[in-house]
Amino acid sequence: MASKHTVTSSVAALTGKQAKVEHARLAAEIGKHDRLYYQENAPIISDAEYDALRRRYEAIEARLPRLRTRESLTQRVGAAPSARFAKVRHAVPMLSLDNAFANGDVSDFVGRIRRFLRLGEDDEIVFAAEPKIDGLSMSLRYEDGELVTGATRGDGTEGEDVTANVKTLEDVPQHLKRRAVPKVCEVRGEVYMTKHAFLALNRRQADIGGQVFANPRNSAAGSLRQKDPAITASRPLGFFAYAWGEMTEMPADTQSGMAEWFASCGFKTNPLTKICRSIEELLAFHREIEAQRATLDYDIDGVVYKVDRIDWQERLGFVSRSPRWAIAHKFPAEKALTIVDDIIIQVGRTGALTPVAKLRPVTVGGVLVQNATLHNFDEIARLDVRIGDTVRIQRAGDVIPQVLEVVQEKRPPPTKPYPVPRHCPCPLRTDVEREKTITGEEGAVLRCTGGLACPYQEIEHLKHFVSRRAFDIDGLGEKQIEFFHEQGWINEPADIFTLEVRNGNLTLKGSNEKARLEDMEGYGETSVRSLFNAIAARREIALERFIYALGIRHVGETTAVALARGHGSWSAFYKACLKLAKDDEEARREMDALDQIGDTVIESLHNYFAEAHNLRRIERLAAQVTVRNAEKPRADSAIAGKTVVFTGTLERMAREEAKAAAERLGAKVAGSVSAKTDYIVAGPGAGSKLGRARELGVTILSEEEWAKLIR
Ligand code: IVH
Repeated sequence: MASKHTVTSSVAALTGKQAKVEHARLAAEIGKHDRLYYQENAPIISDAEYDALRRRYEAIEARLPRLRTRESLTQRVGAAPSARFAKVRHAVPMLSLDNAFANGDVSDFVGRIRRFLRLGEDDEIVFAAEPKIDGLSMSLRYEDGELVTGATRGDGTEGEDVTANVKTLEDVPQHLKRRAVPKVCEVRGEVYMTKHAFLALNRRQADIGGQVFANPRNSAAGSLRQKDPAITASRPLGFFAYAWGEMTEMPADTQSGMAEWFASCGFKTNPLTKICRSIEELLAFHREIEAQRATLDYDIDGVVYKVDRIDWQERLGFVSRSPRWAIAHKFPAEKALTIVDDIIIQVGRTGALTPVAKLRPVTVGGVLVQNATLHNFDEIARLDVRIGDTVRIQRAGDVIPQVLEVVQEKRPPPTKPYPVPRHCPCPLRTDVEREKTITGEEGAVLRCTGGLACPYQEIEHLKHFVSRRAFDIDGLGEKQIEFFHEQGWINEPADIFTLEVRNGNLTLKGSNEKARLEDMEGYGETSVRSLFNAIAARREIALERFIYALGIRHVGETTAVALARGHGSWSAFYKACLKLAKDDEEARREMDALDQIGDTVIESLHNYFAEAHNLRRIERLAAQVTVRNAEKPRADSAIAGKTVVFTGTLERMAREEAKAAAERLGAKVAGSVSAKTDYIVAGPGAGSKLGRARELGVTILSEEEWAKLIR
């Protein structure tokens, strides 16, 4: 999660003595979270919450500079992680699951599958339903039946190599207990710690003054990510197998068959797994497991429904990071009462002001909660939350806690409604405005109008730029960006790439002396060398990452991929955007013809590229990096590189499936017909698109002809 800037209303109100006490308390708290984050890989607060603590700490120092001693956290950069593991690339990505909360979400899920597979109302879909374990997912690779690698999920593409540690788990067989097994088998599942083992471990840890964990999941993660496998071995961890990655052969053709096969190989599979044949049976399973939840010795946060037939799973495929064939049906969130000590305002990358309630710490479902999002100022007004109020909060899995309601009877006098801010809390105090939607309606979001002139937005932009899914620069995380930005060494993305040549000529804020990064606390020759190497390694970057890294509003990862594929190269994309910014109608039409690109994105690109300030930054950045062209569509299919439009009703497969198949074969699927369209596949009921295709002389195919073409 991106970290945010916070301003607290109460720092100014502290007396000198209170400020000193608070400064010390925050130092201890931040130190604790650093340890949890770096040494245990078990953070219990979000990055934004962590940053809020740092902000408050800094705000106190800004008020009382004498607290800024050499020991101060602001005078140290980062903290070295204790355990470093080698990276492992997953042969098949490890994905996540979409969530269902209401029963209606489950029927929508089943309905989507039915439509995608073109099944009738009476066709039966068999599901394997199982508890969703709240642990950490693990991929175990067996070659010729022998365990060769154990890897954590990481970002889904690349995880950490924890083989030595995972080998100490009793539930993980060193070799598959069957004679004939496929050459490569990747068995996936969840590592977890039982509740009683977790409590016992915490008691032992507290006795020896060691690490105490917030919940069994963090405890499992911390135990697995130990430098010394002997420590992992001493921790009681379990493993349930429930999925697979690369398999050179499939030993079964159903999900439930795979689970049986895993069991025959020596794995534990969840005994509560059940076959369900209707929505009613799925919902009954959900109720049944929820009723058992408290009595189970491991934490679960819902149930998972998976289409049992693997051939159907394959046809259904994935949407971005989650399979269409599975869904996690979560349990309702756990609730608690606590007091709002303060309300602070965070400023995000796009200038949105988000109010956050700072709460009297309370444990909800085993996790310490100290903040809750208030979303926006309409929400504050709706709830009428005031500082000092007692509120009911809820927490659902990893979702940020929310304030449900104010307990009016407990409101202490005197309180006043929280005022809607008129200025950004940043030092520039820029005006804020209420966001308008594309149709001109007033939205709920208040936005700082400062753009990149607002230092808070600027920092958030830089953090986004270096984040995992953007430039992903090792050793240049949020904290380092904050430090470099504060010193004025990195003000915009291009500065990252010139840092090395400027090193030695940098000056520390408030001094004229030349400085070298190597001389900063927390850095040394080696770490500076690796930082510059990491930066150099990113001088070449894929087009979709580059576009995503620019941080244009409404251009997330999926949109960036669509834009990259649609234009092929940075220069083509840039030219198109410049034309768009000059209100060129043709450029707008072409953009609109791209799959997944609609008015909101186009408007946002238009605004972004119309800003001279943005163009200058981009040009300075483009001078520093080489942008690789988008992955060429598969060249070995008849439709590779072609643009296809589907119109009318398709009989053999649903539109969505047809589209997915076309894209797999390297075609671009567009929403409307233009001069660039190669084929239009027209089913019954095709309308104006077909007419336009005729006008333009586009090749018109029936569904039959299309099927033949792609066979
Ligand atoms: S199936 C393609 N089954 O939930 C995804 N996942 O929110 C296959 N999880 O990353 C995942 N229990 O760590 C599956 N019975 C279960 C699960 C389960 C827990 C976790 C898993 C996954 C996360 C997604």
